[in-house]
Amino acid sequence: MVSNCLDINEKGNLTIGGVDTVQTAKEFGTPLYVFDEETIREACRSFKKSIDQYYDGNGMVLYASKAFACKEMYRIVGSEGLGIDVVSGGELYTALSVGFPADKIFFHGNNKTLDEIQFAVKNNVGHIVVDNITELNTLNNVAKANGQKVNIMLRIKPGIDAHTHDFIKTGQIDSKFGFALETGEALAAATLATTLSNINLTGMHCHIGSQIFETDPFCLAAVTMIKFLQDIKTETGVTLSELNLGGGFGIKYLESDKPRKYDEFMREVSKSLKAKCEEIEFPVPKIFIEPGRSIIAPAGITLYTIGAIKNIPNVRNYVSIDGGMGDNPRYALYKSSYELVVANKASQPKDFIATVAGKCCESGDLIQENAPIQTPQVGDTLAVLATGAYNYSMASNYNRIPRPAAVMIKDGIARMIINRESYEDLVRNDI
Ligand SMILES: Cc1ncc(COP(=O)(O)O)c(C=O)c1O
Repeated sequence: MVSNCLDINEKGNLTIGGVDTVQTAKEFGTPLYVFDEETIREACRSFKKSIDQYYDGNGMVLYASKAFACKEMYRIVGSEGLGIDVVSGGELYTALSVGFPADKIFFHGNNKTLDEIQFAVKNNVGHIVVDNITELNTLNNVAKANGQKVNIMLRIKPGIDAHTHDFIKTGQIDSKFGFALETGEALAAATLATTLSNINLTGMHCHIGSQIFETDPFCLAAVTMIKFLQDIKTETGVTLSELNLGGGFGIKYLESDKPRKYDEFMREVSKSLKAKCEEIEFPVPKIFIEPGRSIIAPAGITLYTIGAIKNIPNVRNYVSIDGGMGDNPRYALYKSSYELVVANKASQPKDFIATVAGKCCESGDLIQENAPIQTPQVGDTLAVLATGAYNYSMASNYNRIPRPAAVMIKDGIARMIINRESYEDLVRNDI
């Protein structure tokens, strides 16, 4: 199956982390997000080990917490020694609420509000990744008012096309994120940043996209960014010592996906980067990476209960579930692929072609179209695999459907990490 934590037990049921998913669905109800803690920890360790190895201890892994953020996730990545990136006051608040070390937090976002900037400065966030000139000036003023000097990086669009889906490709020039390299905008911003009294420009950041399988775009981005650091040195006389290369490492959603080992990305990128540094005699900077999906997606699945099944002759079979785009909007947004398994029939052949429909009042509320599954019946448990990233974190209350609970599996035991929302939760802020 697409993730090592998944298997099939003697009853023919799907397991995650050795736990029977059919039992888990019964115990906690559906829809239910289920995560395997060991898989998360292994991914954290694997990234950490390879960045240490290939950058001679001068590197750091930041978990991109937009992929899946909750208190327990911050506790887990914190205990593995990772830093994090956050993109909102809400993510920052959640991390700080469990005592996540502020100096290991990078704060991103293309339109941070004044409140968010003040909140980050007041809490001594380690780095703010500045997206635009308005933010740069606001941040300098906030830092001045607080009598602080804040570490920043600038988010750069290095102009790399990573051959990925248009919606998740952010490094090219037509993007709402960051400063463009090729127009001179980035160099002008860097020059300005070095002159501001309450700003400490430590380095540059880029993120070229998501779900990328090739190493070449990452190598090219790294080389481009090193060259840019050299241009900054030439222009301003300042040698920046940090470079954040973002996330975007591809994962296996389908059996046909062949992602590389994370170690290979690290090895190849470090080779290109170090070669460029040597060529232009620029000191190798401290390297940061920001994997999100690759840390959490393979560790998560979502369990649903199958309800109505409709066969439209010569058209398709609709299999309805008790969740949908509210808990997983990725198919509606990007036509994302997923592997599906009827959890209580996992050892049976997938002899049925299903379009899995959610329960929202929206025709586009689909989880997958014309996908193979075991022949379903009302009451079966459907598992959607590799849903750990950008599912719970993108969930909504559309149609006032409460968000599902999440459980974490460790040592054969499932523990609740996010309670199921209640109807009372839905009206809590209504007046
Ligand atoms: C700045 C930045 N860093 C890291 C990530 C994480 O990307 P992924 O989850 O694909 O690793 C993203 C995703 O959008 C991002 O925008």
